[in-house]
Amino acid sequence: MKIHPITDKIFALHADIKSDDLFEGIWPIPYGVSLNSYLVKSEKIALIDLVRDWVGAPGELAGQLASLGIGLDDVDYLIMNHLEPDHSGWLAEFRAINPHAEIIATQKGIDLVRSFYGIEDGVRAVKTGDRLELGEGVALDFFETPNVHWPETMMTWAADGQVLFSCDAFGSFGALGDRVFDDQFSEEEHIFFESETLRYYANIVSSFSLFVKRAVEKVGSLPIEVIAPSHGIVWRTAPGEIIDRYVRYANYLEGPREKEIAIVWGSMYGNTERGLDAVIEGIEAEGVPYSIHRVPNEDVSWVLADAYKSEGILVAMPTYEYKMFPPMAYVLDIFERKHVWYRKALRIGSFGWVGGAKKEYDNKIAPLKWESIESVEWAGSPDEDTLAMLYDRGRALARAVKEA
Ligand code: FEO
Repeated sequence: MKIHPITDKIFALHADIKSDDLFEGIWPIPYGVSLNSYLVKSEKIALIDLVRDWVGAPGELAGQLASLGIGLDDVDYLIMNHLEPDHSGWLAEFRAINPHAEIIATQKGIDLVRSFYGIEDGVRAVKTGDRLELGEGVALDFFETPNVHWPETMMTWAADGQVLFSCDAFGSFGALGDRVFDDQFSEEEHIFFESETLRYYANIVSSFSLFVKRAVEKVGSLPIEVIAPSHGIVWRTAPGEIIDRYVRYANYLEGPREKEIAIVWGSMYGNTERGLDAVIEGIEAEGVPYSIHRVPNEDVSWVLADAYKSEGILVAMPTYEYKMFPPMAYVLDIFERKHVWYRKALRIGSFGWVGGAKKEYDNKIAPLKWESIESVEWAGSPDEDTLAMLYDRGRALARAVKEA
């Protein structure tokens, strides 16, 4: 990877991670993810955000710095906007190479520097309003933005260049290759990154949407020319686009959401699937768009992304040993953790000798505050009357979505 100048003093560095390893040990990254760092070079040298030792990332970082004639031991300040180990995992090794660089983070971040890495010396806690002078009129200002994504998170601002180093906020999945700036990607590539931004937001950030809105308000008065996140594209031409996108995602929490239906289904022997086909006919008759995901065949990462943006949810699953189809129970657990709340919802499904999914399902959706259309359950294969009822329920769910 190359190093990319943002201004004559600020540079974007990144390591593309392409691995079967899961992000946070949970989320697939088949298209990779970038770990972004930034160099601010004046009389003093600051490095903003680090990497973990993952698929050669530390070597990439060192190599890109070396291309400017800078060694890791030339860094005077290491700014840690966020201590999650995707950005901090290589901190102990960095400190061993460069024992004199001062590590700067919020007080909660400094606590994590100690608890994760056992580092107690050469650290400085900063808070909103604090400034770090780098010489020649270049300074970095700090803004605490708790819970975007962890409680210790902050953003860093360079007035020289009007660059906001936003950490996880405004980030996405997806490797970048040799380009990093928004104006270097085609429309088609932006469509891809928009999809990976939504999936990243739903998977990583969605539980903290209220804090995303607060953070946007906090930095909203800054004259931002460049959004420089810790994952994904650096926005220098249209920074407002990624800010607007994140605000839209944050607003999905309480609405408005997209007038779409996310269908999540599982079927053991095709009986629930036959019923689902009738519901889909009803949805299509109302002209409401839908996404469809079969579990467990499809990873919950993509299920969550579509559910997070959609006003309607259709859950189709059989009863399994008197309870819910197990993969669907996991999906609903994730929905609860990631705040997929206040949706219009419908549940359908078949059973063998007796139902039983209802009780567990009702318990699981209670905290989600979903507004449910009357569910439909049937024994064995759906008969004509049941199929007609399922078609009507599909129309009813679609109408509820349209009217929301
Ligand atoms: Fe990219 Fe929350 O770490």
